[in-house]
Amino acid sequence: TTLPVKARAHTNIALVKYWGKKDEDLIIPQNSSLSLTLDQFYTDTAVQFRDELAADQITFNGRTLTGDAQRKISRFLNVVRDLAGITEFASVETTNHVPTAAGLASSASGFAALAGAASRAAGLQLAPRDLSRLARRGSGSATRSIFGGFAAWQMGHNDEDSYGYPIAENVNWDIAVVAVVLTTAAKKISSRQGMRAAVKTSPYYPAWVQTATQDFETVRKAINDKDFETLGHVSEENAMRMHALNLSADPSFTYFNADTLRAMAIITDLRAAGYPCYFTIDAGPNIKVLCQKLAVEKVVSSLQSAFGEDAVLVVHPGPGLTFITD
Ligand code: DP6
Repeated sequence: TTLPVKARAHTNIALVKYWGKKDEDLIIPQNSSLSLTLDQFYTDTAVQFRDELAADQITFNGRTLTGDAQRKISRFLNVVRDLAGITEFASVETTNHVPTAAGLASSASGFAALAGAASRAAGLQLAPRDLSRLARRGSGSATRSIFGGFAAWQMGHNDEDSYGYPIAENVNWDIAVVAVVLTTAAKKISSRQGMRAAVKTSPYYPAWVQTATQDFETVRKAINDKDFETLGHVSEENAMRMHALNLSADPSFTYFNADTLRAMAIITDLRAAGYPCYFTIDAGPNIKVLCQKLAVEKVVSSLQSAFGEDAVLVVHPGPGLTFITD
């Protein structure tokens, strides 16, 4: 039996999206991606490997996981056990600090926290890059949640060279994210299924890889130059192209709903009126708006009048993985 270890990781919002795998088992992506880690939404996970357990025991917000959800975590724990050369089963307690009604839960913070807690509980002392490679085995976007602020995931070609790294962990310039919760319903098509369909059936997939590769360089430079307009413009365009892949898949599908389109139009209009704001959308109907201070109040009030006061949250750049001793 090992000592328990507790870790915390925050969610991230991709500015240049990961949408498609080259290797589904190792989770090697088709393009490099880039994100901003957020301060308000995070996952705490405590892990202990225990002699007396006959199976992994996993609780999520106090409820015991079974079936596919349990198997996914157990498969991840097998990777950790192999690395550490141990055989004990683990107890895993996860608490998600994403406002429950927010529907912004993400596998990114979950697998980043689990990679940290499980590896350290198993006796491994992994450097951030190796933690990120490990987190990748659970969920691709988790590679970036090991790091705070702006972070990237270099696609690489194999388990060794596909990992996350920090671009600017301390974001000392004017950028906020307004998150709009349009629905809390679970998505019908998971990211995993959605990106598989896009790779297999969208005739535009090669163009996606090409443009996303350019977008990565442009956004990286914009971060370096603290150039909000370029960062926002290219991020919004990149998100729209990702969603265009899904519309162009066979069968066609979309994560947008009617409110997504309404919210997009609100942001486009505010921008035309001179407010520095751009939206991005992940594998669901909710939208996140990248804003400068000058725009935050107006963006919040406009979205609140359309979707209700409780639907809008303002968040900021957040930190990378931390270990918690209590
Ligand atoms: C649209 O990381 O959830 O949020 O690796 O299959 O677990 P798996 O997928 P996941 O996909 C995230 C997709 C995205 C874009 C992004 O975060 O880069």
